[in-house]
Amino acid sequence: MGKDYLDGVLQHGSAFAAHPRIDPVGDRDAGNPCLVNFALKPGLSTTITVYELNLEGRVVRQHAHAIPGFAFIHDFAITPNYCIFFQNPVSFNPVPFVLGWRGAAECISLRRNQPTQIILIPRNGSDPVQLISAEAGFVFHHANAFEQDGDLVVDSVSYTDFPTVMPDQDYREVKFATLPPGQLWRFRIHLATKTVERSLLEQRCCEFPTLHPAHVGRPYRYVYLGAAHACEGNAPLQGTLKVDLETGDRQFWSAAPRGFAGEPVFVPRSVGQGDAGFHRTGAEDDGWLIVLVFDGETDRSAFVILDAKNLNRGAIARLHLKHHVPYGLHGTFTPHYFG
Ligand SMILES: [Fe+2]
Repeated sequence: MGKDYLDGVLQHGSAFAAHPRIDPVGDRDAGNPCLVNFALKPGLSTTITVYELNLEGRVVRQHAHAIPGFAFIHDFAITPNYCIFFQNPVSFNPVPFVLGWRGAAECISLRRNQPTQIILIPRNGSDPVQLISAEAGFVFHHANAFEQDGDLVVDSVSYTDFPTVMPDQDYREVKFATLPPGQLWRFRIHLATKTVERSLLEQRCCEFPTLHPAHVGRPYRYVYLGAAHACEGNAPLQGTLKVDLETGDRQFWSAAPRGFAGEPVFVPRSVGQGDAGFHRTGAEDDGWLIVLVFDGETDRSAFVILDAKNLNRGAIARLHLKHHVPYGLHGTFTPHYFG
């Protein structure tokens, strides 16, 4: 629809990350939702700017922090009091990028056996930034984070190596089995001791974690992911996985062998009743998952709607498109129609 400079907050060429998080109950905004996002200016040291926007789209808080070292950060997580970033241990070779041979992300390699730096930026903008070392691989996406008994808990999809597929490579010849699978990990950050414990939540190859919007930054029970059909090894995402973090129960819907599924977008049932989805009404999994599925049989895509309470019911509706939709990364849902 066009570029927006947020009433002059951003200048031409400014960065604004593609991963905003919406705090469903902004304590500093009279309980209204607020959108939190960041911008990164990488270099020998990296500047992270945090923006918080109110419901009118106005920037109501903004603060910038210099972090030591180069940082490549795709996503972040929020809690009521913190913005949480994982600074992956990567090195950047600028030459192919400067010469225009490669995109920036293609000039990055993981420095194995180096710790990930977890960066905690207090959302009040005034308390000091904390840096805490953690054992982690490479993280693109975080599922969620929350505060619990003096700890911060962050659930993230982590890889043992940076999964690189070069643009000059024929995608049909990529040996998926040789690439590391993304797996869902829980990182528990003890703020008092500045230590981190991690545990594997899901070993199945997965990506694009999503949850009920009213639980962003808060304790939550259900996470939904795009996932591979087989429970082990790396493979393209072909299904939707629901993990009950309380009981460990799993439900899995698969579009295999010819269906390829993307990010599952959770739509709370209350949205159909005029609520924007930021209130907790009913069970946390009372709603639908919308998944864009490419069918290799017909070369067309379809929107598949699943019952989030019970994925075993299979597709409860399929909206067939007359064409395919090229793979994207993320989706979002709004009850508004933008004609
Ligand atoms: Fe992303």
